[in-house]
Amino acid sequence: MPALVLIGAQWGDEGKGKATDQLGGLVDYVVKFNGGNNAGHTVVVGDETYALHLLPSGILSPGCIPVIGNGVVIDLAVLFQEIDGLEARGVDTSRLVVSADAHVIPSYNRVLDRVTERFLGSRKIGTTGRGIGPTYADKMNRVGIRVQDLFDEKILRQKVEGALTLKNHVLVKVYNRKAVTADSVVEELLGYVERLQPMVRDTGLLLSTALHEGRTVLLEGGQATLLDVDHGTYPFVTSSSATSGGACTGSGIPPNRIDKVIAVVKAYTTRVGEGPFPTELTGDGQDGVDGERLRTVGHEFGTTTGRPRRCGWYDAVIARYAARVNGVTDFVLTKLDVLTGWDTIPVCVAYEVDGKRFDEMPMTQTDFHHATPVYEYFAGWTEDISQARTFEDLPENAQRYIRALEQMSGAPFSSVGVGPDREQTLALRDLLR
Ligand code: GDP
Ligand code: IMO
Ligand code: MG
Repeated sequence: MPALVLIGAQWGDEGKGKATDQLGGLVDYVVKFNGGNNAGHTVVVGDETYALHLLPSGILSPGCIPVIGNGVVIDLAVLFQEIDGLEARGVDTSRLVVSADAHVIPSYNRVLDRVTERFLGSRKIGTTGRGIGPTYADKMNRVGIRVQDLFDEKILRQKVEGALTLKNHVLVKVYNRKAVTADSVVEELLGYVERLQPMVRDTGLLLSTALHEGRTVLLEGGQATLLDVDHGTYPFVTSSSATSGGACTGSGIPPNRIDKVIAVVKAYTTRVGEGPFPTELTGDGQDGVDGERLRTVGHEFGTTTGRPRRCGWYDAVIARYAARVNGVTDFVLTKLDVLTGWDTIPVCVAYEVDGKRFDEMPMTQTDFHHATPVYEYFAGWTEDISQARTFEDLPENAQRYIRALEQMSGAPFSSVGVGPDREQTLALRDLLR
């Protein structure tokens, strides 16, 4: 079982952290391949709750080597804060490996992220304000700063000065902000070198050697399918490749080494930030009440920014789309327990756009914006399911709900989450078979 990919099927926060943590004990490497500290993964282990942003969730598994791959953008201050926070709680982070090719988030990109959003006004994306978009833009624009650049002061200075030539014009003339000096940026980045250097490796080579030796590698995606810059609800997306294809480019592992693609999908849907969301529950009526109940019961508040997450029913069109775009071999269904207590649970099986039915994602953004859900209704259950450990422990209606979702979603369900703790999971099939 050489390489597995684990990604989010919806708009993020599906519970990827918990799923990765559970697999972490069974694999040799966990690689974060995209995104940065825009991600927020909550992992609950007994009485301890960990909020991870930049570090791969595998950091909590003692036998596993966590890797920050080349596709990640790194805020170095956050990296060391997160390491120090975990070390203070007794977690050993000494195995962490960082790619020499990963890009760093310079301070000016955090500023630009925030001022750009303000400038966009009602057209804003609702970013996390962590400098993610501007840093990926720099990468594509070939003016980014890579981890390896920090080890050659002359090169670093040249690159920072090059990037600032344009950035300072934008900061000063467009956004009316102060210019940033190359010296201050270089000085800040050089301050991290001593701690960073021992962690840095050619991670593509490291992982390819590991696979060659029969080790198991888990590639952990941040964000999710509909936030992917190519396959998501553009422009309301993040700026990286969060789908399974990104696992290859973001790690240096070729597609023919990937055996399994595991998609984490919530038993309902949430979204943070702006953008279309067909099954969203809002307003003063029953929809608003249901949306608020999902948010409260599911604790749907961002791990990174604390923003309330927008909530809605399960959308099987999205699940099928995720199955297709990622080549999903297994779904991990999460947060089924949150649905306990509803009389009936609607599931979106298709969309209607201007009187026309769509069983697949509409081709255009305009149609997706206008899509209204076609619902099928399932009988709910009232029993507490948080202690269930096998499929048979679940009430019949919960079993029916799972089977119905599985049938509509385009790939088999391998496990079901009934609570945040590692133990609160029902295995339906062996994920590492
Ligand atoms: P990620 O970004 O995909 O890793 O997900 P987040 O950590 O941002 O959000 C998922 C939240 O749901 C976290 O607080 C998890 O502890 C929690 N969680 C994960 N699985 C379950 C589950 O099956 N039931 C419940 N009630 N909570 C879960
Ligand atoms: P995890 O890994 C949910 C959203 C932001 C915004 C858009 C762009 O925890 O699932 P960015 O700062 O990336 O440029 O913001 O993407 N977003 C997420 N939403 N979960 C995440 O990560 C997210 N990472 C980014 O809210 O709408
Ligand atoms: Mg999250």
